[in-house]
Amino acid sequence: MKRNTTKEPSISNINEIINSLKENNRFHEIETGEERNYLIETYGCQMNEHDSEKLEGFLTQMGYEKTNSRESADLIIFNTCCVRENAELKVYGKLGALKHLKKRHKDLIIAVCGCMMQQEHVVKYIQKTYPHVDLIFGTHNLHNFPSLLEKTLNNKEAIVDVWDQEGEVIEGLPVNRRYGIKSYVNIMYGCNNFCSYCIVPYTRGRERSRKVSDILVEIKDLISKGSKEVMLLGQNVNSYGKTLEREVDFSDLLEEVVKIQGIERIRFMTSHPKDLSDKLIDTMAKHSKICNHIHLPLQAGSNKVLKEMNRKYTQEDYLTIVQKVRKKIPGIAITTDIIIGFPNESPEDFQETLKVAKFAEFDSAFTFLYSIREGTPAASKEWQVPEEIKKERFQALKNLIDSTAYQNNQRYLNRKVSVLVEGTSKKNDKVLTGRTETSKTVNFPGDQTLIGEILTVKITAAKTYSFDGVII
Ligand code: SAH
Ligand code: SF4
Ligand code: F3S
Repeated sequence: MKRNTTKEPSISNINEIINSLKENNRFHEIETGEERNYLIETYGCQMNEHDSEKLEGFLTQMGYEKTNSRESADLIIFNTCCVRENAELKVYGKLGALKHLKKRHKDLIIAVCGCMMQQEHVVKYIQKTYPHVDLIFGTHNLHNFPSLLEKTLNNKEAIVDVWDQEGEVIEGLPVNRRYGIKSYVNIMYGCNNFCSYCIVPYTRGRERSRKVSDILVEIKDLISKGSKEVMLLGQNVNSYGKTLEREVDFSDLLEEVVKIQGIERIRFMTSHPKDLSDKLIDTMAKHSKICNHIHLPLQAGSNKVLKEMNRKYTQEDYLTIVQKVRKKIPGIAITTDIIIGFPNESPEDFQETLKVAKFAEFDSAFTFLYSIREGTPAASKEWQVPEEIKKERFQALKNLIDSTAYQNNQRYLNRKVSVLVEGTSKKNDKVLTGRTETSKTVNFPGDQTLIGEILTVKITAAKTYSFDGVII
């Protein structure tokens, strides 16, 4: 892996390369009558999804067209995740399958980027096992993509460029937004928490916050282009601002964001319980534009496991926050992440997780089987919980969460809620789908022209994972 000795490219540098690739694509179209197409497959969290939007931004400026078919793509990019082993296995499977495609389409460029590439052993394995991969780059040099692509197009050899450390935050890069209505905005990058099971601090580097002014400029621009909702992204938004020269915290940032004219909904993720301040809870309670939803990863209920996970809060701390939040923000939805089968998790420890989940009455939870991540402290722990036990515990927890979610959802029956219409249902284009402020999915009959509107909908059926409703 490279030390970051290369100088950061300037925006004008990047634009020069983009223009030259655009010319190249234009000539190709004149000569062959066909434009060049790209396909990006994204794995992992919103950080990666947003990074893919940035790659799409570059590619659109270079004159590439988006395709959904691998056969017609001239450039295929896998933006990878390594938070759990199964995320990695999926990518390996897909890379293997591309070998035949490359034989048929000699000029096809295959690129892999994202969190998996920040691990040296993965890069070596890909180079050895999948020699048909043309370009490998990491999370810290995404902004260098235009120059890396240019080099790859001019080179017979594969290009590998992965930086081992985060660079400066570069502002002003192009972004292709997936949703016009809902937009992701990074407010910070990286993570300093080093939870003992987690690979993210190694793949995304140290925590660094964007300046308030840069964030506001981006959001104002999004709202002027029709966005109704912004999702502020960070691995731990509650510690926003710590790396900035001027002292400012996440609540201060929210106070500025709510003032933006035309903004309807503000969401954020993720909140680490150890840094959730009373000030933030008060700010959320004060402003109706800040959605009544908080994603507050619990990870485990037992104090012993929480300590070994290096989470820096106890079961009691967590439950106190839940009580405070529910008291100050009535009707708030609380969702969470839970890991099952952390090394040495005993049956009693797991009972503690069930106990906290029951008390917290979660609206939903992402539940994960613990996955060993090479290089993290937990990977070297001796007693790993057997897979069958993990699966049994997973089912017990799922049953509990489903039942609290169902119970919570019954409170919505016959109530009128405001719904931001996001699109049509996958199964039926006469059915619209959208979200409540509390991030619950609602399906209801309606015309596609209503996409992007905030409507009042009466809930007619409250299920475990979604609602049915009618516009009123
Ligand atoms: N920064 C966020 C989460 C990032 S990763 C936070 O702190 O909440 C998303 C989720 O993946 C984590 O919340 C955790 O529940 C899960 N996760 C991370 N590492 C894992 C591992 N090794 N095995 C299983 N799940 C893991
Ligand atoms: Fe991983 Fe913990 Fe950082 Fe979240 S806070 S990204 S779980 S190390
Ligand atoms: Fe996200 Fe996966 Fe990376 S969860 S930060 S894409 S390891």
